[in-house]
Amino acid sequence: MTPDLMDAGAERVARHIAFEQTLHTESGGRAAGYGRHMTPGEVDVTHGRILYLDDVSVSFDGFKAINKLSLDIAPGELRCIIGPNGAGKTTMMDIITGKTRPDEGTVFFGSTIDLLRHKEAEIAQLGIGRKFQKPTVFEQLTVFENLELALKTDKGVKSSMLFKLDSEQCDRLAEVLHTIHLESSVLRMAGNLSHGQKQWLEIGMLLMQDPKLLLLDEPVAGMTDEETARTAELFLSLKGKHSLMVVEHDMSFIRTISEIVTVLCDGSVLAQGTLDEVQADERVIEVYLGR
Ligand SMILES: Nc1ncnc2c1ncn2[C@@H]1O[C@H](COP(=O)(O)OP(=O)(O)OP(=O)(O)O)[C@@H](O)[C@H]1O
Ligand SMILES: [Mg+2]
Repeated sequence: MTPDLMDAGAERVARHIAFEQTLHTESGGRAAGYGRHMTPGEVDVTHGRILYLDDVSVSFDGFKAINKLSLDIAPGELRCIIGPNGAGKTTMMDIITGKTRPDEGTVFFGSTIDLLRHKEAEIAQLGIGRKFQKPTVFEQLTVFENLELALKTDKGVKSSMLFKLDSEQCDRLAEVLHTIHLESSVLRMAGNLSHGQKQWLEIGMLLMQDPKLLLLDEPVAGMTDEETARTAELFLSLKGKHSLMVVEHDMSFIRTISEIVTVLCDGSVLAQGTLDEVQADERVIEVYLGR
């Protein structure tokens, strides 16, 4: 069997396993799916929610970092999360991505995938991409090579060496390069890019995997005003095609991109609404904006 065929076979098996896992919910996937036929890898959003957290809590040495947190977002939505330092924003992302296990609560991706039953790597494969604050691109590789590598992460060393982009993947790479404004830098070493360009490249690497949900933790921290404005454009262009959860302290950036803003404080939702609504909320002014 050729390596290509082996890869194709392994991928089919992986898709089958992922599909099987979506059925291992308490209801066996039946109640939420209402008998609708789901294709492998599809996330059931027929109930209008791509992410659903209910009554989630986690303590670290007796300190409740997340405290009965309930929050959900719609498919294609760009949700902004704000809140003071230590509010639990990053910890919430750790829980969604399987890095931290909550002590109690429910976390669902669509209405059938119980994320608490999956490991971190499986959650990434199910279609949840995460961007940490610090850019983590491969500095010694070109922009092209970084994006190409993003497609190989789940493959072994040998098949990675033999890996060639097919025409669909070439098209995707070209589209991603265009989206992240790095077409003219495709052969530059990632280490020579500006901070903002590195951040876009890392977002591009996530996009190569075509995630359904993107979690972005303080994406414009350290960016110039121009880079921040371009990032706002980028996120607005991703909205609809992907669901996004964006944590930021930069209020002018939030104003440019936001529809619904959720304010976290002491590990739970303090307020939610448009930016104007939450900025007018006395409790929000007291704990966050009025500082
Ligand atoms: N692994 C851990 N062990 C112990 N305490 C932790 C751990 N992770 C987070 N915490 C604590 O939980 C609280 C919430 O932290 P978190 O990093 O989620 O806040 P945040 O809202 O992201 O803040 P910031 O805006 O500063 O990034 C903090 O008090 C933090 O010290
Ligand atoms: Mg944080």
